[in-house]
Amino acid sequence: TDNIKNAIKAAQNGEMFFIYDSDSREGETDFVITASSVTPDDVRWMRRDGGGLICVVIDGENSQKLGLPFISDVLRDEARSNPALGNTVEKGGDLAYDNRSSFSIWVNHRKTRTGIPDNDRALTINELSNITEKCMKGEDVSFGSEFRTPGHVALLRAADRLVHDRKGQTELSIAIAKMADVTPAMVVCEMLDDSNGRALSKEDAKEYAKLHNLVFLEGQEIVDAYEQWEQA
Ligand code: 5RP
Ligand code: ZN
Ligand code: CA
Repeated sequence: TDNIKNAIKAAQNGEMFFIYDSDSREGETDFVITASSVTPDDVRWMRRDGGGLICVVIDGENSQKLGLPFISDVLRDEARSNPALGNTVEKGGDLAYDNRSSFSIWVNHRKTRTGIPDNDRALTINELSNITEKCMKGEDVSFGSEFRTPGHVALLRAADRLVHDRKGQTELSIAIAKMADVTPAMVVCEMLDDSNGRALSKEDAKEYAKLHNLVFLEGQEIVDAYEQWEQA
């Protein structure tokens, strides 16, 4: 569809676009942009007009190669020596909208100071794209020599089979990256409603996208396009 084509172009040009998952899941819209092209101004834009959590998604294969775990797996291991902490780990049935979260670790690039200002977060995000690209090309990389944890950018790890396994913005954003043939490292940030503190409604998110002349996508159209693309 034209909408998908425009989203692919946006990803290739490093422009912001929006992904709403679905009415039957979170019912949330995220700001989405390639991690390679994020500027400090984009971080400011997302925290002001989005207001959710600014995260970087990396595809499953590169997450694996970089040694980025699901944090729930790490904590489940920790439970053997720390049952109190272990008891906090999410399990099936804990989340209202999915089987599991996609959270990995939280990082700062080592060249940041505190890690939270817009320029620090943009640097961390850009470098996450760089290391993902190097990793993808088979170059030698050492995640820990470039990044430290804990930090102020949340990493999300996409499911290996993307939308076949899970249909969150984690997988939906990487499906767009794959179709656009750009580095599979994407920034996502939820849009919240300043008037009531809830997730911004789909209608209002659509309106916002229109006002800014940016692409607005729904989960199902990405799932359909990605499945077609895989078969081609
Ligand atoms: C991180 C989140 C967001 O919902 C983000 O959209 C990615 O998660 P998911 O793939 O589960 O929707 O929880 O702030
Ligand atoms: Zn969420
Ligand atoms: Ca989401």
